[in-house]
Amino acid sequence: MGTKKQLSEEISEPESYYFELQASWGLTKHMGGLEATRKLIEACHIDKDSYVLDVGCGVGITACYLAKEYGCKVVGLDLSEMMVKRSKERAKRKNVEDKVEFKIGDAQDLPFNDGVFDAVICESVVAFPKDKQKVVSEYARVTKPGGYVGMNEVTWVKTPPPELVEYMSRGLGQAEFLNPDGWKDLLEEAGLTGVVARVYKTSALRQWASEVRQMDPRDYLGAWSKFFSLCFKSPAVRKWIKEVSTPPRSVFRIFKYFGYGIYVGRK
Ligand SMILES: C[S@@+](CC[C@H](N)C(=O)[O-])C[C@H]1O[C@@H](n2cnc3c(N)ncnc32)[C@H](O)[C@@H]1O
Repeated sequence: MGTKKQLSEEISEPESYYFELQASWGLTKHMGGLEATRKLIEACHIDKDSYVLDVGCGVGITACYLAKEYGCKVVGLDLSEMMVKRSKERAKRKNVEDKVEFKIGDAQDLPFNDGVFDAVICESVVAFPKDKQKVVSEYARVTKPGGYVGMNEVTWVKTPPPELVEYMSRGLGQAEFLNPDGWKDLLEEAGLTGVVARVYKTSALRQWASEVRQMDPRDYLGAWSKFFSLCFKSPAVRKWIKEVSTPPRSVFRIFKYFGYGIYVGRK
């Protein structure tokens, strides 16, 4: 079955539709790029002996990076079958198949026993599922006593105008972003201790540069050329472009309202 048919006929839910588009063009991202990933890894005390779960792993960039650069064992989990397929292809290309495995699964009901991982991390994921508290409680459940749960999530650093919230949610797979206290509360409610929140502001240019650094230039260019070709071939891509092509004026001041936060707690 061709890409065009998959995108236009199989995807109906707005959030899965958004992620299937990303999986098709082979690019997923989070705010702060590689620099933020490194901060998250450090805050979760991950080293070569750690057993790490990366929830909502997307196309597997961070999971493969952890396996390659830190030498630890990693499980990447994603709701999307196509993301998991892309991640497995990446692990093969990066020669880390012996250290990383990928699974399909829902963050709201993790397919693991209690207390298995030294660290559970996610980057730009908890914004999407409806039951955010269930997600973070699941992270805490599968973490070993003494282990860490760490999240990088898009964060409102200043109360945004309602039309901007609505536009962002519509354009970004029904995402719901929180303010720093909102994200922190989720970790505390899950019973984690010593919860730390570090919030960062960024700019469009810095965000773009951090994304380029996180991907191989060839992958990055490949993903964009795929995106442009999908613009012609796929009605689903054109539908998404139409949805995001009439932004409110406040979108031009978006980085005044949002940044990202690294939130970490210990079990
Ligand atoms: C914005 S992307 C970020 C991907 C990756 N973490 C990165 O930084 O490149 C969000 C990812 O979360 C996944 N996702 C969304 N809801 C999920 C859920 N309930 N369970 C597992 N994965 C989910 C999506 O399929 C997508 O791959």
